[in-house]
Amino acid sequence: MSDNRPIGVFDSGIGGITVLKALRARLPHEDLVYLGDMARLPYGTKSAETVTAYSLQTTKHLLTHDVKMVVIACNTASSVALGPLTEALAPIPVIGVIEPGARAGVAATKTNHIAVIATEATVRVGAYARAIHALAPDAHVVQEPCGLFVTLAEEGWISGDVVEATARRYLTPLFKRKASPDTLVLGCTHFPVLAKTIRKVVGRGVKLVDSAETTAKAVEAALNDAGLATKRKARGRNRFLATDSRERFARVGGIFFGEVIKAKDVELVDLRFN
Ligand code: DGL
Repeated sequence: MSDNRPIGVFDSGIGGITVLKALRARLPHEDLVYLGDMARLPYGTKSAETVTAYSLQTTKHLLTHDVKMVVIACNTASSVALGPLTEALAPIPVIGVIEPGARAGVAATKTNHIAVIATEATVRVGAYARAIHALAPDAHVVQEPCGLFVTLAEEGWISGDVVEATARRYLTPLFKRKASPDTLVLGCTHFPVLAKTIRKVVGRGVKLVDSAETTAKAVEAALNDAGLATKRKARGRNRFLATDSRERFARVGGIFFGEVIKAKDVELVDLRFN
């Protein structure tokens, strides 16, 4: 059996392209449809109810592309909407990024002391702390919302004075104590592109992990378990959809993807009537 339908991936904006990139590398033959809800970004400052409603609308649109699986490439949406989406889309499998990110953090720590940075909404519901404690009940977890990182990354500012000053302001309090965490989970899709600056601030002794790679692994395993993997040998296609700002999506998305994305290849979709 070969299932050649695409995998649907969505995020509040461009950040989830870090997850898309990992999926592309691990699953070269799968077709991927990525939807960035640029019109309503950010999700990270909004209530669980609003983020869940937006997530249901974005996935409903992905279903019109006949997707065989949905990947929530957004930590905020994964934190609050994984349950409702799984229920609404059944039997189509839905994979979030929190559990894979927590798994990466637990695998990396030697001291059982993990720091998590994420959006305000992800921190508020304690999604990472819960997922980490499910895997490592004795782990000591500290969390910090770092919303400005999202704005900087969306602006394409991934290094320089402003990014470094912001990183110092957010991260120094977490790492100034002697017994500070040895692992930092980048619990937001936008943060991996800032990794160089974050590394400069926290020092080389701290392991930085994100959920992109482990999510791609989880997706591969779920495809195989459900008999949904393609057996095609041709390279899979990437299809980009956005609810607004095609030029910005292409320009900044290219930074996240590490490959040029042309604005003319980004299709505009309207979710308001979904
Ligand atoms: N995609 C969101 C996340 O990973 C960050 C951007 C936003 O706040 O919408 O949490």
